[in-house]
Amino acid sequence: MYVIKTDKLTKRFGSLVAVDHVSFTVEEGEIFGFLGPNGAGKTTTINMLTTLLNPTEGSATVGGLDVEKQDGKVRKIVGLVPQDITVDDDLTGMENMMLQSRLYHVPKDVARERIKEAMSLVGLTDAANRRVETYSGGMRKRLELAEGLIHYPKVLFLDEPTLGLDVQTRVVMWDYIKRLRDEHKITIFLTTHYMEEADVLCDRIAIIDHGKIVALDTPQNLKDSLGGDVIELEFDEATDSQIETLKTMPMVKDVKKIGEAYMIKVSKGEKALPEIMENLLKMKLRIGKVSLVKPSLDQVYLEYTGRSLRETRGETGEIWRRMRHMRRVRG
Ligand SMILES: Nc1ncnc2c1ncn2[C@@H]1O[C@H](COP(=O)(O)OP(=O)(O)O)[C@@H](O)[C@H]1O
Ligand SMILES: [Mg+2]
Repeated sequence: MYVIKTDKLTKRFGSLVAVDHVSFTVEEGEIFGFLGPNGAGKTTTINMLTTLLNPTEGSATVGGLDVEKQDGKVRKIVGLVPQDITVDDDLTGMENMMLQSRLYHVPKDVARERIKEAMSLVGLTDAANRRVETYSGGMRKRLELAEGLIHYPKVLFLDEPTLGLDVQTRVVMWDYIKRLRDEHKITIFLTTHYMEEADVLCDRIAIIDHGKIVALDTPQNLKDSLGGDVIELEFDEATDSQIETLKTMPMVKDVKKIGEAYMIKVSKGEKALPEIMENLLKMKLRIGKVSLVKPSLDQVYLEYTGRSLRETRGETGEIWRRMRHMRRVRG
């Protein structure tokens, strides 16, 4: 049973097509990810699915409800953790949660219990009465996650949930997100430009580029679609005819020379590697270096878009810049 379904969902800003005829479904209880670089159309898609923006064309339902025609009902069943920092530094975690519960019209007596539960879910019980100013980046993100849970959403939208966090903190966050799905059966739609995040966390991934879905599958299938692993070999010395023989070995699908290295495409690296090594030794080929390269989502991304996702990474400072900006705005 699907919880989200889009049909040629499209958003134009003037002549720019930010989201371009995107069609997909998300199953109940799934963690579904939109993976793509900045400007790919991830936030715009989330904004349409959470009724913050109207589609220009196409349609979408969440929980069977039309995001345009039944927007009020959609809002009741979705939780949103936006990309930008939304928690107030001057308030305690608890006070931020109270504010959020009022926004969602959760009655006061119910709110206390729910806040306790949500704060404990994200591991902030002990920090609940501390001002958010004293929180680490990871704690702030977890507080925002808790805020998204206040009205018991059926579907939770997480826009870049670990943007700017360091690797260790990111792993902790993944655990909390997984738990929401595993223990509370919440369907999760998230966006990220971190391929490790999509790989580790998501059941299925849509790779999005310039507003279009260019590939959609499980991380494993996407990686398998590349056609296997790569054995990277460097020889001390090899003749052309020896390389030709290498190409004809049974497990070898393709050989490319990049610099000094030969990239040998094989279907099952662990199995192929010892066999190929044995054959090469028989041929008296002296091997300088060898390594087994498992396919990554970066390679998948490269294959479908011609660019590397890695080029778009590395803005750890961004989240802090934003937070400072918000503080200035508030005065
Ligand atoms: N309100 C807006 N007005 C004009 N252009 C916008 C607006 N919001 C987003 N865009 C543009 O749409 C594209 C997709 O943006 P966005 O959905 O934020 O991408 P992502 O979240 O993947 O980084 C970008 O080129 C962005 O500049
Ligand atoms: Mg975004």
